[in-house]
Amino acid sequence: MANKGKILVTGGTGYIGSHTVVELFNAGYEPVVIDNLSNSNIGVIDGIKAITGSLPVFENIDCKDYNSLERFFEKHSDIKAVIHFAASKAVGESVEQPLVYYRNNIVSLINLLQLMPKFGINNIVFSSSCTVYGQPEILPVTEQSPIQPATSPYGSTKQMSETILRDATVADKNLSVVLLRYFNPIGAHPSAEIGELPNGVPNNLLPYVTQTAAGIRKMLRVFGDDYNTPDGSCIRDYINVVDLAKAHVCAINRVLEKKSKKNIEVFNLGTGNGVSVLEIINTFEKATGVKVPYEIAPRRAGDIEQVWADASLANKELGWKAEETLENTLKSAWKWQEKLMAKNKEE
Ligand code: WQD
Repeated sequence: MANKGKILVTGGTGYIGSHTVVELFNAGYEPVVIDNLSNSNIGVIDGIKAITGSLPVFENIDCKDYNSLERFFEKHSDIKAVIHFAASKAVGESVEQPLVYYRNNIVSLINLLQLMPKFGINNIVFSSSCTVYGQPEILPVTEQSPIQPATSPYGSTKQMSETILRDATVADKNLSVVLLRYFNPIGAHPSAEIGELPNGVPNNLLPYVTQTAAGIRKMLRVFGDDYNTPDGSCIRDYINVVDLAKAHVCAINRVLEKKSKKNIEVFNLGTGNGVSVLEIINTFEKATGVKVPYEIAPRRAGDIEQVWADASLANKELGWKAEETLENTLKSAWKWQEKLMAKNKEE
C-alpha cells in the first residue's frame, strides 16, 4: 500500500503503542518507534514484524532527554504526525512516586511540543484516559462530562497534559491535537504475537485474571462486592486493544486531513457498555472454559464505582466504533497468556 507518510509513535513498544504500530502499517503509514524500554521489551518489535511483515524503525530514546529527542528529529525530519503514548501509567505507583510521574509524563510532553514545530511537525494524537472524569455524576460519560479533581498523580498528569496541549493550540494555530480518552483497554492481538506485558504483579484486572487462570496467581481478589451496582462489583467499559489501536489510525487520518475547524478535539474511546468485575470473570470462564478462582476482598482505595463511555462522538467524527465482542477479547487475552507460558517454558 502506498506510504501515507511517517508517524512517530512514542512508547511504541508498550501495550497500546505496539498494537497501534500494527494498525498504522495495515493502514499504509510508516510508523517510527521510540521507547526507553522502561516498561516494555524490544522483543515486541519482532512481534510487530511477525504480524505485519514490516519492521518498524526503532530507537531507544527517552522523551525526557531533550537533546537525544532533538537528534532523533534531525535524523527523521519527514515525520507527518506524532502519537504520544510514552508515559508512566500505574495509578498506585504514581501515589508512591508522584515526582517521578510528573517528571516523566509532563517533561516528555513539553519536550515533544517544543521540538515538533522546529521540524515542521504540527500534528499530535495524545494518549489520555477516562480517569480525568473521576466518578461521573451522570453515565454514560460524554466528552462534555465535567473533569473531576484527579484521584492520583497519574490522573493529574493526564489532566495537566490535556491543559498543556490545549494551551499550546491557542499559542500555535498551526498545531492540530486530538486527545483520546481511553476507558479500560484489554485483550491482545488475535495472532498472540503481541499483548499486555505487565511488570511484576499486575495492577489491572485482566492480566490478573489470566495469570490466575494460568495458575501463576493462586487467587483473584475481587476488590469489593458491596458497591451500588447490580452485582455489587465495580463497573468499567472494557475496550478491545485492537479496536483502540484502530481509533488511533482514524485520529491520525483526522489530523492529517485537517478536516476539523477546531485545532483540538477530544474523543472518548470505549464500547459504550458497562461490565462488572464479576461479569468479566463469568464471561472469561464461559469463553475459555478455564476457571478463575476468586475471593471477595475489601474495596481498593481510589477505585470509582462505575464508569462507561458514550462513544458516539468518535463514531460520528472519526468514523470509528469498537467492534470486537467481549468474549472474543477475553479469548485473545487467554491465548496471549498461553503463548507467554509456552515461551517461558522454552526459556
Ligand atoms: C478494573 C476493576 C478494580 C484488579 C486503571 C487506570 C486507568 C487505566 C486502566 C492507564 C476495578 C477491579 C482489579 C484486581 C479487581 N490505566 N480489580 N481485582 O482501575 O479501572 O483503571 O487502569 O491508563 O487510567 O485508572 O483498571 O484494571 O485496575 O481495575 O477486583 O486484582 O477491576 O477494583 O473495579 P481501573 P483496573
